[in-house]
Amino acid sequence: MQLLVLGGSVFLSRAVVETALARGHDVVALTRGRSGSVPAGARHVVADRDDPLPADLVTGRFDAVVDVGRQPSHVRRAVRAWPDARWVLVSTISVYADDADPAGPGAGRLHEARHDDADLSADPAAYGPLKVACEEIVRAGAPDAVVVRPGLVVGPGDPSGRFTAWPARLRRLTGAPDDGDVLAPGSPDDLVQTIDVRDLATWIVDLAETSVAGTFDAVAPAVPIAAYLAAVARGCGVAPRWRWVDHDRLTALDVRPWSGPRSVPLWLPRPAYDGMPAHDAAPALAAGLTPRPLEDTARDVLAWLDADPDAPVTGLTDAEEAEVLHAVLG
Ligand SMILES: NC(=O)c1ccc[n+]([C@@H]2O[C@H](COP(=O)([O-])OP(=O)(O)OC[C@H]3O[C@@H](n4cnc5c(N)ncnc54)[C@H](OP(=O)(O)O)[C@@H]3O)[C@@H](O)[C@H]2O)c1
Repeated sequence: MQLLVLGGSVFLSRAVVETALARGHDVVALTRGRSGSVPAGARHVVADRDDPLPADLVTGRFDAVVDVGRQPSHVRRAVRAWPDARWVLVSTISVYADDADPAGPGAGRLHEARHDDADLSADPAAYGPLKVACEEIVRAGAPDAVVVRPGLVVGPGDPSGRFTAWPARLRRLTGAPDDGDVLAPGSPDDLVQTIDVRDLATWIVDLAETSVAGTFDAVAPAVPIAAYLAAVARGCGVAPRWRWVDHDRLTALDVRPWSGPRSVPLWLPRPAYDGMPAHDAAPALAAGLTPRPLEDTARDVLAWLDADPDAPVTGLTDAEEAEVLHAVLG
């Protein structure tokens, strides 16, 4: 297969290129060259999607295109260039307008599409509306397209540091039974839902090779956070003493959810985000997405942390976590 990946140097799109190359496909990867190299074996086309696409690429023929784009003009230009290719658009569950419905994405209601491009660093809330527009453009221009909407993507190479924060925290334990207090956020029953980048990339290449059409939430089954963290700890070979601190107490101590300074990564405010980690994985699983055990993801992220001292990690520092636990436990 001649595969064009619009992206290819970062986390998911890089994993897609690696997976396709391993299957013997011919892969062209288009990036600006700012985020690093593309995997060896792919042809790297350096271009900025803000500009017209390179003429020699537009005259090329591709069996499939995988696009991780976020700007409608980028996706529009690409769909016009290769309307007959098999299209796989990587969207996001952030297209859904309701994150609070505990049954998942509400009634499936989406944000209103935003068809102009936007500066996402200045206006992060535009992300979902832009992706809704990208979906509309792909479905209109390539009616047999498949759209995958990932939830939180995790695994080795993650530039966000969110899942990585947990193996990074747990690797400081010794592995002895009950060998350390570790802050656990919210309620043990709160759901967490992620997908390993390699499983998602495998499925995206599967989809590029076949003719399955439609739109899928690309998530593994949701898991209560107590079971989720226990699996991560098993993968890291440690047995922490989890110290649960509820939402109100964390908020009062200026601990923040999800990501960034003073955050507990993966923790989401409730009930505002009850639905975000509660998407139905069944359609994607029926269409071939095969999530690996969380233990394996955690073990491999640990190996990545060992190999790469610059692996990004977000969240509370050790001193901040100790200060929170001291405030709670005395
Ligand atoms: N991470 C998550 O948890 C998560 C969750 C839901 C959905 N998603 C979706 O999953 C996808 C993630 O893709 P990813 O991991 O590959 O990360 P990404 O940050 O979306 O990667 C963007 C890729 O496109 C290239 N690129 C960016 N701007 C460009 C431009 N103007 N012209 C040409 N190339 C450009 C980048 O390389 P250069 O910078 O070198 O150009 C890079 O290779 C996205 O579609 C995202 O919306 C992610």
